[in-house]
Parts: sequence; C-alpha cells; structure tokens
Amino acid sequence: MNQSMEHHHPAASLEKEAVRWDAARAAEIIQRLSSLPGAALPILHALQEAFGYIPAEAVPLVADALVLSRAEVVGILNFYHDFHQQPVGRHVVKVCRAEACQSMGCEDLVNHLQDRLGIGMGETAPDGSITLETVYCLGNCALSPAIMVGRTLHGRVSLERADRVLQDLEAPK
Ligand code: FES
Repeated sequence: MNQSMEHHHPAASLEKEAVRWDAARAAEIIQRLSSLPGAALPILHALQEAFGYIPAEAVPLVADALVLSRAEVVGILNFYHDFHQQPVGRHVVKVCRAEACQSMGCEDLVNHLQDRLGIGMGETAPDGSITLETVYCLGNCALSPAIMVGRTLHGRVSLERADRVLQDLEAPK
C-alpha cells in the first residue's frame, strides 16, 4: 500500500451503528459539556459518538443549551463534513466531488461505487455495512480523486483502488 497516498488517523474509532434516540442521555451529554468554551463542537461530537449520528431531536436541545437558534446549530452540522444528520452504515465512504476531483474523473468513481453497492449517494447499503456520501473537498486535491473512509484518506483513487478499499471493508474482521 502506498503510504504517500494514505493517512491513517490513529484517533479513528470504529464506525458505530446508530442507536435509538434517548432524550435523557442527550440532555446529560449536553449538560456535561455546555460550560466548555466553544461547546457546540464537543457537544455535537459527543452526541454523534453516542447515537452514531446527530438526531434531529437533538438540535433544539443543543440550541437551547447554548442560546443559539436552531438554524445556527443546523448550520454547524452542514458546515462540518464529520457530522451525519441521518443514521449511517458501519462504514462511511465520503467521495469528493469538488473541482479538482471533478477534473480527475470523480463522477466515474461515483457511478462505479453506486453500481457496485447498488445504492445512490447519501444512501446506506441494505445490510447496513456502507454509506456513500458526497463531500466537497477533502483537502487532498493534489492527489485527486480522493475519498475518505472513516478517518482514512485515500488519494488517486482509480476504480480498481476503490474496489480494493470496498473489499477491505467487506472482509470479515
Ligand atoms: S477537490 Fe477533491 S480533495 Fe479537494
């Protein structure tokens, strides 16, 4: 494997499956972290860690605790790639469709991944294994087209390379 094209973040935790919404648990998380400076991001990360995504029900709780509008909280969720607003699969494959990756054929990659998994972008495979997401720039433009799986960035992703990545995800652990 070519190390120059792949950066593994040791902090990566295994992708967690979405768990049932629990308002009391969410309130406890929010209360525990709300006095931190810049509490919005730690709270949202902790909620995602707990539930696997940020349930819509959490938005007003976070807004009230931080004296923000709901739109401001949703704005934060939309701004950062890392937050999921829907339940996701065990693995999330983010495919960059911004300009540099467009010029290196990322749409072929998108079509290939969709065909191979039988799902569209933004969807999760029926077995809950993989979610495909569109993102706009992973900061890896020099090695486009780029995808990110969990917290691992892959560059110069040919169709063959994409297949190998999926095979690794599908392999029994
Ligand atoms: S445009 Fe795809 S990584 Fe920047």
